[in-house]
Amino acid sequence: SALELGDHPDHMAKEIGEQPEVVAALLDRVRRRTADGSTWVGLGLPPFDRLAVVACGTSLHAGQVIAGTLRTLGGVPTDIVVASEVDHVVLAPGTLVVAISQSGETADVLRALDRLDERHPVLALTNNVHSSLARRADAVLDCHAGPEVGVAATKTFTAQVLVGVTAVVSALVASGRLEASRAAALVDELAELPERMATAAAVAADRVPLLATTVRDAPGFLFLGRGPGLPYAAEGALKLEVLSYRWAEAYPAGELKHGPLALVDEGTPVVVVDHGDPRLQWAVAEVRARGGFVVTVGGEGTDLPALPRRTDAADLAWGRSTAPWGPIEAVVPLQMLARELALQLGCDVDKPRNLAKWVTVE
Ligand code: G6P
Repeated sequence: SALELGDHPDHMAKEIGEQPEVVAALLDRVRRRTADGSTWVGLGLPPFDRLAVVACGTSLHAGQVIAGTLRTLGGVPTDIVVASEVDHVVLAPGTLVVAISQSGETADVLRALDRLDERHPVLALTNNVHSSLARRADAVLDCHAGPEVGVAATKTFTAQVLVGVTAVVSALVASGRLEASRAAALVDELAELPERMATAAAVAADRVPLLATTVRDAPGFLFLGRGPGLPYAAEGALKLEVLSYRWAEAYPAGELKHGPLALVDEGTPVVVVDHGDPRLQWAVAEVRARGGFVVTVGGEGTDLPALPRRTDAADLAWGRSTAPWGPIEAVVPLQMLARELALQLGCDVDKPRNLAKWVTVE
């Protein structure tokens, strides 16, 4: 059954490894319908002027990617709402709420929806179409990731991102904000992801053990990213601290100089999600100048290459992600690094202490 481990050492390894096939299967569904906007039209939601993401944990990071895609491609304003903070949120008229939860049972998300102004339509993005969230929502998109056993979300994150960004593309076509031909090109670009994720995983399998050994005794980690890379840095930090019980903080790279640079000392590990923005090199140089141990994740020449070789633009040379959804494939080596460090420290990667898969309390 889907819940059996087979040859895999743990569920997390199995679920990380399933990501290329999860993405490929989702894209098969999407390619038949999305480019002309028909997926969106079929949901029966009213037109929207703004979008608010409501979610927790890893699902919140997926929401950041989805919102960023909508802003970049469609110029549509977005809000990111931490579900447990909904007391303090004011949403503008015309806002569509996208509630994201793999389980569909996270209490904070359900309570947040109860507290929203009723005028806001709710779209659920969930891996459980029989959940309380799915029943509560006006429309539901199934993430089709299959059962996820590891407490730390991996393949459900990737599936949420894929389902969310393709829904965004479809909605923008349906509302006339995006040309159908451009949408089709974007879906074609996504179709390269399964192969890229598999390649990134193969390279990371070779390199991650030694990297993890090098940083094994570090008490804390910084994760840096910029723009579309930032949600992936946040997800990499969350995975690492949840699994290894080491402090990890994600920061916008440009903010390094306003605070966390003070933490960087000889050997401090700093993981940089490098989607190809040259401004990230400033942060890399500053960290190295203080003896910090930089691990770059991104294009060719990085420690954990995950992005495609680009031959179309000479100045961009290698591995610059210009995709509105950012470097999705970088999440695979980040998950693998977190898992490997946890294993080397003797932690249970499927069941981190103190945490639960379904958090049904507020
Ligand atoms: C728990 C899990 C996380 C997950 C979060 C949100 O904290 O340990 O992996 O991201 O809940 O869960 P949801 O089911 O709402 O996506």
